[in-house]
Amino acid sequence: MPFLLALVLILLVQWLHLRLLCLELPDRFHRPLPWLLFFFHLPLILFAGLRLLGLGGHGALPLLQFLSRIGFYFQAFTVMHLLIAMLAEWAWRIFRKPVAEVDSLEEAPVDPSRRAFLRTSAVASTGAAMAFGVVGAQEAFSDPQITRLELTFPDLPPGLDGLRLAQLSDLHAGPLVGAKTLRRWRELTERERPELLLFTGDLVDSRPEELEPLLIAFQGFHPPLGRFAVLGNHDYFDDPGPIWRDLEGAGIRCLENAAALIQRGGSTLALLGLQDPMARNGRFARLVYGPGPRPAEATRDLPSDVFRLCMNHRPSEWEEALAAGARLTLSGHTHGGQINPIPGFSSARLIGPRTQGLYREGPDLLYVSRGLGVVGLPIRIAAPPEIVIITLRRT
Ligand SMILES: [Fe+2]
Repeated sequence: MPFLLALVLILLVQWLHLRLLCLELPDRFHRPLPWLLFFFHLPLILFAGLRLLGLGGHGALPLLQFLSRIGFYFQAFTVMHLLIAMLAEWAWRIFRKPVAEVDSLEEAPVDPSRRAFLRTSAVASTGAAMAFGVVGAQEAFSDPQITRLELTFPDLPPGLDGLRLAQLSDLHAGPLVGAKTLRRWRELTERERPELLLFTGDLVDSRPEELEPLLIAFQGFHPPLGRFAVLGNHDYFDDPGPIWRDLEGAGIRCLENAAALIQRGGSTLALLGLQDPMARNGRFARLVYGPGPRPAEATRDLPSDVFRLCMNHRPSEWEEALAAGARLTLSGHTHGGQINPIPGFSSARLIGPRTQGLYREGPDLLYVSRGLGVVGLPIRIAAPPEIVIITLRRT
């Protein structure tokens, strides 16, 4: 169903793009245009078709990755071309008094000055869209920024002073994030020598089998205090059972409304994980994999005075982590907006107020990572991928 919806959306965008191209290009191009667009979208159509047929296994993954990358980049170009042309259209409406009131692109040919304006802007908008695509792809797949933070808690147990942990969020292993990228992220993280490795959700993009390249990439990387994870909304797009099983099999403990006690220097850290709300109200109401966040369940067996660090995929659920007594909460989910074309405005504001970085609520802290992977379009603008290295300090 999600792929069918995606296909309908893609077809709608293409139809709008076709209307735009008809405005921009001379009449002689109009006849072959639909075929040309079909040709360019063949990879994405094949990708969607293979997925619909259930051919998403390991054998098909390299082919799917190849097809989807081509298709998604063209899709990204299409969306940006449309957006830029819309801006040109608004500019035209503001600066030129229309000859007659027009409501849609279909009425455009009756106004030659409008068509001429759009034709003139076509080259510029195509160039700008391509530049956005190139710059965005470069940002998305360049080495991530490494954010090193020292977070101080006066009541941190002495044995935890100096504890260095790595947070990796939103890797989205799948068609757009392959083995080579995952290996690079592992290499960069391992270089930081963390004592604890935490994955804060969206390990895969949409299917459980996409986890295997991630597990292979992180094979043999065993920080002394362990590797832990919580799942994100994307991990619940399909049955999460195989993800839970394969994580545990690889020695990555999945904390879903659960806690682990970690000993260091004679002190104890309680590491908690809350389950993502997608578990209880996934994209299909009939598929319920769990109760969603349950702070009471996660903390049931914990001593009341133990220092608590919580992994919680969505920053919008921080209140649940605070209810679990978390002094530090680590989240992701927002991708820092991923595509922020308006300077100073994070697109993540559209889904909530906590977009990226550090937040404080009394003595408690939340860090929202921009994450590593991409969702939807394979680009990032003004939201570079991020590996977070946190050192806990007592004073
Ligand atoms: Fe994500």
